[in-house]
Amino acid sequence: MVVLQGTQRVNNRGHLEVGGCDATELAAAFGTPLYVVDEVELRRRCRRYRQALHASYSNSSVAFAGKALLNLAIARIVAEENLELDVASGGELYTALQAGFPVQRITLHGNFKLDEELRLALRHGVGRIGIDSLDEIERLARLSEEMHCSPRVTLRVAPGVDPHTHGKISTGQDDTKFGLNISNGAARAGIQAILRHPHLQLAGFHCHVGSQLLDTEAHEAAADIVCRFAASMQERYGMRVQEIILGGGLGIQYLPGQQPPSIERFADSICDTFRRSCQNMGLGEPHLGVEPGRSIAGEAGLTLYTIGPVKRVPIREVPGERWYVAVDGGLSDNPRPLMYDALYQTLLANRAAEMPTITVRVSGRHCETDTLLPAVELPEPHPGDILAVLATGAYNASMASNYNRFPRPAMVLANEGNAELITRRETFEDLLKLDLIPERLRQKAIASQGCDKGE
Ligand SMILES: Cc1ncc(COP(=O)(O)O)c(C=O)c1O
Repeated sequence: MVVLQGTQRVNNRGHLEVGGCDATELAAAFGTPLYVVDEVELRRRCRRYRQALHASYSNSSVAFAGKALLNLAIARIVAEENLELDVASGGELYTALQAGFPVQRITLHGNFKLDEELRLALRHGVGRIGIDSLDEIERLARLSEEMHCSPRVTLRVAPGVDPHTHGKISTGQDDTKFGLNISNGAARAGIQAILRHPHLQLAGFHCHVGSQLLDTEAHEAAADIVCRFAASMQERYGMRVQEIILGGGLGIQYLPGQQPPSIERFADSICDTFRRSCQNMGLGEPHLGVEPGRSIAGEAGLTLYTIGPVKRVPIREVPGERWYVAVDGGLSDNPRPLMYDALYQTLLANRAAEMPTITVRVSGRHCETDTLLPAVELPEPHPGDILAVLATGAYNASMASNYNRFPRPAMVLANEGNAELITRRETFEDLLKLDLIPERLRQKAIASQGCDKGE
């Protein structure tokens, strides 16, 4: 049984509805594949985070992790909801700046920030830069001196916690490219280096243990380890620990069987552990930050596809045949199934009230196996049906590519029966916009036939 999310419901025409909009009408009006963002749900999740964290620990802030989903409209919604924003590249930072996101509420992260990205951040005076390596300390100090500014920085540390999630989204263990290890002394060397540079204002520490976590164990363990480390550094170097940022990572319900903690339970448990650890270590009540991405945007998004050819292919295993259902997108609009074996709930948007009768494999149009959904239950699908894949709001559009020179899909914001385009669909012309033909390749006429015969 599919569990609907946010404002999704089945309307009296038997169609899936989201944000008060009939999904089949969205598909007809905007084409498919189409990313649909449920604005009410997106805003509700921003508010729940802010309220829950604030209720449990008032000296706190929530930054939306822009890597999950970012464009101009999303940045403005996040700003309106009074969240901060975590950006992980010059492109994300530029998007936020162009959207008019309050610059003091922006943090720049990334394991290798280029000089031009650091310069952009310094020029605009972002609220915080999350330092990730010893090399970056030296470069940032040099650039800050050149630009006559003193950025507020945090040091990203690797607390050595294994978050038990997919290997590609585990980041808090010792064996990681992110941050500086607490266990091998690299983090301590990082602090010494930062403190040597008068242009860098060290405000505290940052960690992010992993993503799609279905319990709070790893966050609690990391909070405890980072607080202990912060306290020992405070004592040793006389620095004042003003803030500790515990990253993002709360998982979402991709499948009915997954039961991640609610935002409220997550906030409660990390605030409790954080407060206790800070008290035990004599840190007082430093500022606590979290940076959720997936658990804000994920369930607020869905993708609509049009079904094309349906094939029944003989297989050795029971039931003896497999239904291959092709959709008009796939790997280029959602690489997660190929990267992480990610699974999703799905339903036919134009026949949402019908019970599933068969198990099918949904494949995309790309030149790979491009399995979008290996085995999902649907009513017998026909070409032209509209397939809705749920919980695609995070790490879908933001990870989309032009593989096979597919134009990337449009994105609409659905709210109270209105749908507004927030990213237009790419065109073939867009695909050519950056291509150039060197003069020497232009000059030669291209033969109109294929290979010359008989030579
Ligand atoms: C530093 C940092 N903060 C926050 C996040 C957001 O994580 P999530 O989307 O799991 O909440 C990530 C994700 O990779 C991250 O690297």
